[in-house]
Amino acid sequence: MALLISVLFCCIIIADFAWLLGSRKGPTLLMKILEFIYPIRDQQGRSISGPQWRWPNGHMIDKFLDGREKSKEWRAFGSVYRIWSCDIPEIAITTPEDVRAFHTDSDVHDKSASSNGGWFFHQLLGECMGLVNGTRWRRVRSKFSHAFTHRAVLDMSASISADSCEYVRNLAVEKNKSSSTVHASQNLMRFPFFCTAQSIYGPMTQDEKDRLWSIGQQSLALMRYVLSGGVYRFDICRLLRPEAAKELAAFREQWSSFNKEMYNLRRPLSPAPLIVSTWKQVIDGHLPENEILQTLSEMLFANLDVSSHVLTWLVTLLAENVEVQQKLRAEIRSARTAPNTFSIDYLNAKDSLLKHCFLESLRLRPFTVFSIPESSPSEKILGGFRIPPNTSVVVDTLAINVRNPFWGEDSHLFKPERFSYIKSAELRYNLFAFGFGTRKCLGMHFAETMVKVFVVHLLDQYELHLPSSEQNAEEYKVGRDTWVPTANVEVVLTKIA
Ligand code: HEM
Ligand SMILES: *[C@@H]1O[C@H](CO)[C@@H](O)[C@H](O)[C@H]1NC(C)=O
Ligand SMILES: *[C@@H]1O[C@H](CO)[C@@H](O)[C@H](O)[C@H]1NC(C)=O
Ligand SMILES: *[C@@H]1O[C@H](CO)[C@@H](O)[C@H](O)[C@H]1NC(C)=O
Repeated sequence: MALLISVLFCCIIIADFAWLLGSRKGPTLLMKILEFIYPIRDQQGRSISGPQWRWPNGHMIDKFLDGREKSKEWRAFGSVYRIWSCDIPEIAITTPEDVRAFHTDSDVHDKSASSNGGWFFHQLLGECMGLVNGTRWRRVRSKFSHAFTHRAVLDMSASISADSCEYVRNLAVEKNKSSSTVHASQNLMRFPFFCTAQSIYGPMTQDEKDRLWSIGQQSLALMRYVLSGGVYRFDICRLLRPEAAKELAAFREQWSSFNKEMYNLRRPLSPAPLIVSTWKQVIDGHLPENEILQTLSEMLFANLDVSSHVLTWLVTLLAENVEVQQKLRAEIRSARTAPNTFSIDYLNAKDSLLKHCFLESLRLRPFTVFSIPESSPSEKILGGFRIPPNTSVVVDTLAINVRNPFWGEDSHLFKPERFSYIKSAELRYNLFAFGFGTRKCLGMHFAETMVKVFVVHLLDQYELHLPSSEQNAEEYKVGRDTWVPTANVEVVLTKIA
């Protein structure tokens, strides 16, 4: 059925495009056809609305690269509306009530195939832990989960702290000057990347780090094909775009050999790093190589943008909000047990200003405006519309985190203290950070510790402020060459004597 629809869709596009070339009616006609194939109505029989279908990818690209703008623009279609990832409908929901209604059966939800990103995306991440379903998901998750529990992360926190102290010390390269201006994401991104990498491979040599970085750059470069959509959504791109297929094959080959080598190098160590037990599953034939390779890609390469986004925005918001920064520095200093050492209890405290700053930054700057599409096997009534089983649903995270009345009138401001008055149970459907349901982020405790510990050392060593050219938070520049809108902001670091 899906195949038939895809074939039909291709024919329609080709015919439609040829026939209506130069006419403005093309997309309208196509949308009428898609609406006919996938009818969604409310009790009164009204059809769900949504933005006009766009040639050739629907809204797949807008959703990632222009999420902030589109979230604002698409509000006009109501609290529940429909967008298209090429020919696949996605229902966008915007209220905590609908998020709750959709997630009542989250343990049986499925992630949409390849996140509705098409063939090329499937080759990169289609079989990673975050996108497989059911028993396959449970199987792969069980091979990783023990390494990222709260307990396991506690055990890693001393080494995360030592690494971040060192990284922070080397940040202001112009050693002679008391202050340096650094590009936040470019200068910070290597920290979360190698910190995560060492949670998998154990301590790495400079040579290993350089190789991993360069494989990561290849992987990120391949995302440009995914983000251009069109022919790359289909298997046929192997024939039509042989150079892209070659690039993909070269990446795979290197990624596979890198992990094989790391397995062999790390096998004699005791305790052995995570790569040893996971790669052994591949060798023993318990898990397909692709599943592990793509899961490692997800944790390292897909996450590079996510983690650096989170870290960069927290640093940027602290640089902008000098008063909060000073309060936080005072809190950090009072938790210092020796030079460059902080109490573990403080780093893990649930109600510190540090924790509240972390949450507030996640709230204001979710790494994706539209969440990863997933579906329920049951029919759902969302915003009055009858959503058929197995329909992809995405959450507008800005609507939940910022426009939501729960957050009050000043919801667009960075005010971490607001979390002192909120019970964590209330956050469940009012804050998108690490996901809503059963499929919560594997690395959530790890990521939290990594980001908080970094900020502790950063504020301990430097005062932060924005250069005068970067002021208004809504106007921050964001990068457009990655799938996550990373801050394109410079921050001035002044060494504290
Ligand atoms: C810094 C911030 C991070 C944020 C905000 C974040 C956020 C998320 C979100 C929203 C999801 C999807 C949940 C869903 O679809 O319901 C997810 C999944 C996942 N994340 Fe993270 N993540 C972060 C860091 C990390 C790190 C460092 C790792 C590596 C250990 C990681 C590994 C994963 C994995 C493997 C999944 C798939 C989980 C599954 O489906 O079982 N994440 N993350
Ligand atoms: C997960 O489930 C969805 C819906 O049932 C299906 O379309 C998709 O292909 C599955 N994903 C994988 C990787 O098997
Ligand atoms: C630091 O500055 C002084 C004088 O401005 C200069 O003589 C010295 O070479 C500089 N050192 C470094 C490491 O750049
Ligand atoms: C929804 O997807 C599941 C899993 O792929 C399948 O078993 C079920 O029959 C589908 N339901 C409908 C109504 O298509």
